[in-house]
Amino acid sequence: MSLEAEVARLKDEQDAVLLAHNYQVPEVQDAADFVGDSLYLSRKAMESDRSVICFAGVRFMAETAKILNPTRTVLLPDLKAGCGLADSITADQLRAWKAEHPGAVVVAYINTSAEVKAEADYCCTSSNAVKIVSQIPEDREILFLPDMFLGDYVKRKTGRRMHLWVGDCPVHAKLRPEEIAQARKAHPGAAVIAHPECGCSTGALGEVDHILSTDGMVRFAEETTSPQVIVATEVGILHRMRRLNPRTEFLALNEGAICPYMKQIDLTDVRESLAQRRFVIDVEPGTAARARRSLERMVAT
Ligand code: 13P
Ligand code: SF4
Repeated sequence: MSLEAEVARLKDEQDAVLLAHNYQVPEVQDAADFVGDSLYLSRKAMESDRSVICFAGVRFMAETAKILNPTRTVLLPDLKAGCGLADSITADQLRAWKAEHPGAVVVAYINTSAEVKAEADYCCTSSNAVKIVSQIPEDREILFLPDMFLGDYVKRKTGRRMHLWVGDCPVHAKLRPEEIAQARKAHPGAAVIAHPECGCSTGALGEVDHILSTDGMVRFAEETTSPQVIVATEVGILHRMRRLNPRTEFLALNEGAICPYMKQIDLTDVRESLAQRRFVIDVEPGTAARARRSLERMVAT
């Protein structure tokens, strides 16, 4: 039996849904029931009526699934699938920051641990961060964490004064404005799209045509009539883009933009995860209850 067929059989046998992020390797995306960005997958996890949610993504995504749908067994196929950005702030650091700004509203990006989410008022993803911040009353001070590039983008879009945590994603931060300028020169006429975590999303805003979440980028890719599109994010997303729109040439801004965390999981890990029910992700119930309030605001927006 092929690996793909084994995974399909195990999903049925275990009453499992397989969720995959847009950065997963092609074979995992192709085997998944749903592929998408953090917001889409959070909603799919929350709505799932299956006994098991196997999350081919990174740990904070699996934790979010567990918090939003606590009676399900949530599996992460490899425990090394963490997130460099989520590691840039701890709950203790956030508590200390809050103490310096009493009364401030805390907006935490979904790329954070469950303990950090438990300290936040709102969670957001790259696709609804602007909307969430816009809803906060004008007179409130805002602490935004942990990604400074996303935070800066939201600040410019909303015109709100926000304090930004100085964290970044090791993969996106190194995508620089100079690279965008070079790519523009090499491919005149190409559209340029970027994820807001990119280092190039601030300095060269004028050089980028659209700043979008990963699903926003996939939708753009599907609909564009541009002959070439330069894509400034993790290269795993190119698989979906090329499949959805074979008429356009999709080029990575930087072929080296590979997230080592997202690439921990292959289809063999997914099979073993389903066969052995590993690795089960649990969140301490008190932490989960506090994190759920901010996550429910995220999925509702
Ligand atoms: P999206 O929510 O846009 O998929 O982003 C998640 C992520 O980890 C980007 O690095
Ligand atoms: Fe985290 Fe960056 Fe990887 Fe996204 S690309 S999962 S933010 S390390």
